[in-house]
Amino acid sequence: MRWPKCVAWTLCAIIASTQLWNAAWTQENQEPALEYVDSKLCKFCHNKPHEGEQYTVWKSKGHSRAFETLFSKRAQKFADERGIQTPPSKTPECVKCHVTGYDVTTRSHPEQLTMEDGVQCGSCHGRGSAHMADGKILRMNKDADIDVLANLLRPDNNLCITCHNPESPPWNPEKFTLESGEKTGFDFEQALKIILHKNPNKARDD
Ligand code: HEC
Ligand code: HEC
Ligand code: HEC
Ligand code: HEC
Repeated sequence: MRWPKCVAWTLCAIIASTQLWNAAWTQENQEPALEYVDSKLCKFCHNKPHEGEQYTVWKSKGHSRAFETLFSKRAQKFADERGIQTPPSKTPECVKCHVTGYDVTTRSHPEQLTMEDGVQCGSCHGRGSAHMADGKILRMNKDADIDVLANLLRPDNNLCITCHNPESPPWNPEKFTLESGEKTGFDFEQALKIILHKNPNKARDD
């Protein structure tokens, strides 16, 4: 009676170890998950004055202060009007557009990011971890065979309006005037000019 049991255990062990091995193999061969990166790390490569000092520009505009804004009297007023009982800075329905990567369902934000930094680079350029690696290679050899756009988001109007929309309490449907004279709550071209951080030295077709 003992022998079959022993065989069963051995089989079990073999199956278990194969599964472990399979799991390890899959893990090793999968692309690592993309993560958000703290804007302060982007600063290392994107803050040269002659290249448009993107970090300093971002820091000087509203997006970097978007979390701080939630502590203002005006924020409290918006919350009161909506019958919100918690402080705006602790209210997921407010924080979701004022902090990068905030997840309303888990009520959490990426732990490597500081909430105080508000709407960071990653909100518009995406989860930057793979680009960090690309950037390092490009810094060592600027002619390296790397498609720098492959691991970055190209921000367009569709991305902006995930936050700039009527769900935002200060939404003003007549904020921008188009060339036609028509009014609109968000105009990509005009809004972009306000936050623009282009590299003045880069040759481009536009
Ligand atoms: C180790 C250096 C390095 C770091 C860190 C780095 N980058 Fe870059 N990045 C580069 C290089 C090199 C290029 C290609 C040359 C250029 O466009 O300046 C580039 C290009 C870009 C571009 C322009 C793509 C295009 O051509 O339109 C964006 C946007 C960008 N990076 C965003 C970021 C963001 C956001 C972070 C932080 C998550 C970051 N970078 C971190 C080196 C870096
Ligand atoms: C994750 C949400 C989010 C995204 C995405 C987003 N914004 Fe914003 N934006 C905000 C918030 C929140 C503020 C208000 C910040 C404050 O004043 O506290 C703001 C403010 C602004 C302002 C006023 C800035 C200032 O300094 O006065 C402009 C202009 C703007 N955004 C343009 C854009 C453009 C253009 C895009 C797309 C390329 C964009 N935003 C994408 C959330 C976002
Ligand atoms: C759908 C995304 C979104 C949500 C949700 C959101 N906001 Fe905002 N908020 C924005 C954007 C975008 C701006 C920038 C508006 C602009 O400059 O055109 C902004 C700006 C603000 C401002 C500063 C602008 C001003 O006119 O004073 C305050 C204060 C504010 N929001 C408070 C709140 C509060 C409080 C909540 C929760 C009740 C909230 N927001 C929820 C997107 C959002
Ligand atoms: C609100 C959205 C938004 C945020 C936040 C933002 N960017 Fe951008 N960024 C853009 C857009 C849109 C463009 C493309 C502009 C254009 O059409 O040339 C851009 C372009 C760039 C470029 C390319 C410049 C060039 O001329 O080649 C770099 C580099 C860059 N951003 C880095 C950053 C870094 C670093 C941060 C954070 C410190 C940041 N951006 C934050 C929207 C954003």
